[in-house]
Amino acid sequence: MTETLDFQIFTQTWKIALQDCADAQSLEDIRLQLLGKTGLITLQLKELGKLSPDLRREQGALLNAARDELTQCLANRKVVLEQQGLAERLRSETLDVTLPARPHKSGKIHLFTKVIQDIHTYFCDLGFQTIEGPEVEDEHHNFDALNFQSHHPARHEHDTFYLKDMPGWLLRTHTSTTQIRTLKLQQPPLRIISTGRVYRSDDLDATHTPMFHQLEGLVLEPGIHIGHLKGCLTDFCRHFFNNKDLQVRFRPSFFPFTEPSMEVDILYTNTKGEKKWLEVLGSGMVHPNVLRHCSIDAEVVQGFAFGIGVERLVMLKYGLTDIRQLYHSDQRWLDHYGQGC
Ligand code: PHE
Repeated sequence: MTETLDFQIFTQTWKIALQDCADAQSLEDIRLQLLGKTGLITLQLKELGKLSPDLRREQGALLNAARDELTQCLANRKVVLEQQGLAERLRSETLDVTLPARPHKSGKIHLFTKVIQDIHTYFCDLGFQTIEGPEVEDEHHNFDALNFQSHHPARHEHDTFYLKDMPGWLLRTHTSTTQIRTLKLQQPPLRIISTGRVYRSDDLDATHTPMFHQLEGLVLEPGIHIGHLKGCLTDFCRHFFNNKDLQVRFRPSFFPFTEPSMEVDILYTNTKGEKKWLEVLGSGMVHPNVLRHCSIDAEVVQGFAFGIGVERLVMLKYGLTDIRQLYHSDQRWLDHYGQGC
């Protein structure tokens, strides 16, 4: 009878302690005091073996009952504390919409990407479609189909990166390859532009890198003549340099895949106020041999093509003197020249 009373008092006392327990840590402390390796109930259970069988049965039943009751109380208290904790978090973590915004540093678009996007938007507004072509090309697309003679200097290893283990394959030296790739898939009328990386074994200096970007344009429609070429490219230069009076001149030149061929120069005023003619792109009327290669009747369809060195345009527009600035990822440069979305 004495033991029964002891267990009741024991259980009651700990139940009160559990009720008073205010956080998960104190609850865990109590659990260890009672049921841990050296906890009170654990030790009592170990002592049972020393008792006589009758007493062991009686004490065992009481002890188990106390353990079960306290274990249940521990679980109940745990649930209550968790609910209280959640309610408290919901109360304290409310969103104060009146707080001032935290300073926010967002990324910017690289100047170079922005320029390409702007040029694409300009030409897409004129009905041009953008296409892509591979950077690893074969001699057929890079030279033969574009009417390059077998002795043309651009073919020499000196200018072109040939692939060592793939005879006849190379890193494209210009985006004019995309003219051929398009004409094999699509019949005129068409207007396309294509931007991408091209490779030439140029020396690395302030204005040359072995990899640079070109933007290729091709217009093929019945009735297209050199006046369309001049109008289209003059308007483009004036738009790009944001100067409606910009002087643009067409200078005779040579490309195997256009006839006649022309370099396009702009009258550029540098920071010292000096005016200079600067070449900004190559262009010309598509050579009949190129059309023939792609089974297009040169008597019916005519057109023009142009190729723009994108780095050069970016450098001129933003007054950059070193092409390598575009690729260095210098955070200060990126912060300064980065563009909004
Ligand atoms: N592919 C020429 C170059 O790399 C540029 C060009 C393209 C010229 C289209 C005329 C027509 O220099």
